[in-house]
Amino acid sequence: MNPMTAISADTVVLGTTEIVISALGIGTWAWGDKWFWGYGSGTYTDDDLRAAFETAVAHGVNLFDTAEAYGRGRSEVLLGTFVRASGRPVIIATKCFPYPYRLSRRSLRKALQASLSRLGMERVDLYQMHWPFPPVPITAWMEAMADAYEDGLIRAIGVSNYTLAQTRQAQDTLARRGLRLASNQVEYSLLQRRIERNGLLDYCRANGITVLAYSPLAMGLLTGKYTPATPPPGIRGRRYGRAFLARIQPLIGLLREIGQAHGNKTPAEVALNWVMGKGAVPLVGVKTAAQALANVGALGWRLDPDEVAALDRAADAVA
Ligand SMILES: NC(=O)c1ccc[n+]([C@@H]2O[C@H](COP(=O)([O-])OP(=O)(O)OC[C@H]3O[C@@H](n4cnc5c(N)ncnc54)[C@H](OP(=O)(O)O)[C@@H]3O)[C@@H](O)[C@H]2O)c1
Repeated sequence: MNPMTAISADTVVLGTTEIVISALGIGTWAWGDKWFWGYGSGTYTDDDLRAAFETAVAHGVNLFDTAEAYGRGRSEVLLGTFVRASGRPVIIATKCFPYPYRLSRRSLRKALQASLSRLGMERVDLYQMHWPFPPVPITAWMEAMADAYEDGLIRAIGVSNYTLAQTRQAQDTLARRGLRLASNQVEYSLLQRRIERNGLLDYCRANGITVLAYSPLAMGLLTGKYTPATPPPGIRGRRYGRAFLARIQPLIGLLREIGQAHGNKTPAEVALNWVMGKGAVPLVGVKTAAQALANVGALGWRLDPDEVAALDRAADAVA
């Protein structure tokens, strides 16, 4: 099947595989992460995360993205527990981190087995190399991915944070084994449009590689709830200063205005819909059922091309 083949308005095909995913996925970095997201500080609990999972699934989301690195494995444990308890068929994407102590391609198999054990599953749908870091070359990681695929432990192969040149290299290595790269997971939102400019988005579209867009709400900024007067907590507050929060307000205003014209959609729903309109699959992080419910409202409708163009211009003005 073709890349980004729309099975319906709300489902697409992952790469050139037979795997059908919802046009919006849920990211689970915050599910166990204390350092960045404050898991364990009492602002959200495992019960909140379970409710977020169940709400998303109940509203047609079947794609969940995790990683061995998230919460040092806690995210995989929680996700696996929720999936088994629900009994619902979901598509699980996880990732192998190229830690510097991983010195050969054999370490991928060990990492995968540990992820499978935490998830409580016999195979994962999509296994991604988290970053293109040395010392192990991309070719070696892709050979290890191909081995895992041939052994039936993974249904599709992905990468994350790979540049255009690195994506090509991964694709070429897999092609020599008769396989295809299914996805590249990269940061993409109205506030981070690098992949539109460096050719990666076009390359992926042309080669049947699904772009999975991470931080599609710019870590919550595009919800409109963070302003110079109410900056985000923790590391995000230091990363996005008050001046930047002030600069994005016209864009937030336009998201709000466009949302109203679509039956009172929120800025977050419009920002997620913009990603879909660009041909990528947003992976949105949620901590509660309320956030999951708010974000699934991005499904079931589409922005007009004129609105996408207006949002592009408003985003350009922020930079
Ligand atoms: N491959 C990689 O290197 C990489 C890197 C980063 C992320 N990711 C993946 O992408 C996923 C999503 O990225 P992200 O979590 O960085 O950013 P995001 O999806 O842009 O933002 C998520 C955060 O925004 C807030 N939020 C979400 N929906 C909301 C709503 N409807 N109303 C109000 N607030 C809302 C929540 O935080 P607050 O409530 O605290 O504001 C939530 O944790 C991750 O979970 C992970 O799976 C991958």
